[in-house]
Amino acid sequence: MEKVVLAFSGGLDTSVCIKLLEERYDYEVITACVDVGQPEDEINKPAEKADEIGVTKHYTIDAKDEFAKDYCFRCIKTNALYEGYPLSTAFARPLIGKKIVEIAEKENATAIAHGCTGKGNDQFRFEATIRSESDVEIVAPIRDYNLTRTEEQAYARENGIPLPSEKIYSIDENIWGRSIEGGILEDPKTPSPEDIFEWTKSTEDAPDKAEIIKIEFVKGEPVKINDEALDPVALIRKANAIAGEHGVGRVDIIEDRIIGLKSRENYETPGALLLITAHQALEKLIFSRKEIVFAEYLAQKYAELVYDGYWNEPLREDLDAINDHMQERVNGIVEVKLHKGSMKIVTRESPNAIYNQKEVSFEDKDMDQTEMIGMVKYHDLQGAEYSKVWKKE
Ligand code: ARG
Repeated sequence: MEKVVLAFSGGLDTSVCIKLLEERYDYEVITACVDVGQPEDEINKPAEKADEIGVTKHYTIDAKDEFAKDYCFRCIKTNALYEGYPLSTAFARPLIGKKIVEIAEKENATAIAHGCTGKGNDQFRFEATIRSESDVEIVAPIRDYNLTRTEEQAYARENGIPLPSEKIYSIDENIWGRSIEGGILEDPKTPSPEDIFEWTKSTEDAPDKAEIIKIEFVKGEPVKINDEALDPVALIRKANAIAGEHGVGRVDIIEDRIIGLKSRENYETPGALLLITAHQALEKLIFSRKEIVFAEYLAQKYAELVYDGYWNEPLREDLDAINDHMQERVNGIVEVKLHKGSMKIVTRESPNAIYNQKEVSFEDKDMDQTEMIGMVKYHDLQGAEYSKVWKKE
């Protein structure tokens, strides 16, 4: 019998996949759950469940440190946001794909399976990474059989697959953020109910008293919060806790999926938004005007590549290379004031700032104003000429 490694979350889709892979594809199934900071029982449950359904072997891989350092921190360094969303699900997929490929190699499996439906983005992200890192077959049972959730539940009942407790929403969570979709949220006219949120307080419940948080960056990466040095995972968790407490980090958007469908998405990403906001403020002190414009382009392009699953596209690495060079100067400290859902930069400082306080001062006389006369006189020469030639009565 040939072996398949299934990326297993313990949810309905992937539970159904185990039996489909055995029954309809004739595989011996090995399951693997990659820990990128899901809630604890989403890590423990899959192991129990895999055992219950009866797979040959189950792996749990702790990839939290790698996820924080090599993926979430790249999001900060590039300020990548896709339509306002810090890409928490999208950044995790290439890492999960990579880990599953490693297991497939170790197990001499001839195939890798995932539980993605044919409607979402993850099928693109998983398959692109797997194909660029391995030659194994890729199988997607839910998509192959065009199954709906109701059909999956029926199949689970017929095959003695324990049904996960009925969930109202489809939630994807890791250290970088929570994504909540489905159920009543599918109607964009419906306001998001309070019970979908776990990391963030509502503006109403957030404390009346504001809090100032101090973040230190080295080479574009956050290293300290309020003077305390923290490893990447701990730092992200702390940022989530502080910003979430003040009601920062809720994103409710209509998102454009890769295949063109629009979907209503809710995210809780307090830490991500706080860290990106602080990082970007620091860049403003350090980067030239040309670099600022380029950094904005880079943020947009990078977000698009990650969202669309182009992790192994050479441009992604090229952008990282140029950005890593730019980020070498992004050292310094930023203070952000958090209050009832709002975030404001209050101070910024850097040894590499190209801000010149003396020259910009209204009191400075050394930078001689009269020397500007000629420079200003011929500014927008073409505009003046065009107005005379074209706009004359
Ligand atoms: N729309 C987001 C993305 O494609 C997140 C989807 C997460 N899935 C979920 N079931 N909540 O990156």
